[in-house]
Amino acid sequence: MPSHTFVLNGQQVTVDVEDDVRLLWVLRDILGVTGPKYGCGLGVCQACTSHVNGRAVNICCVPVSDVQPTDEVTTIEGLPATVGQELHPMQQAWLDMDVPQCGYCQPGQIMAAVAMVLQARAAGQQLGDADFDQIRNICRCGTYHRIREAILSAQTKF
Ligand code: FES
Ligand code: FES
Repeated sequence: MPSHTFVLNGQQVTVDVEDDVRLLWVLRDILGVTGPKYGCGLGVCQACTSHVNGRAVNICCVPVSDVQPTDEVTTIEGLPATVGQELHPMQQAWLDMDVPQCGYCQPGQIMAAVAMVLQARAAGQQLGDADFDQIRNICRCGTYHRIREAILSAQTKF
């Protein structure tokens, strides 16, 4: 069986798995990292959103063979370490604003939010209300309003 190596939450990992297995299942079923959630498996719901080299990616659509040894995959479990804190400021804002309801979509929402803030910052911008239309992560509980408030409050804190 082919071997695949990449960096997961700061640590190099190697898995023996067929090339076409999606990264979401490698993380969840083989490596036991269950923060990224399964919703559709089609790149639609965004529940699996994680970072690959700092960009938000729907890892349900990424065959493990596409991941290179130097690629850095970050899930919600590894997010605090990216800022050297116990909780990333975006996670703290989520708590402060009492964002989650059932919670299922929330890891993906937070990872998408952090990537969005960093992308805007790289372009010398801050996010405003109009930018939130770009968020495609589905929340069946309808927590969108609190998500926006949390992002607005956290975006200058990391
Ligand atoms: S599980 Fe729905 S986009 Fe990945
Ligand atoms: S909090 Fe329930 S799906 Fe988003």
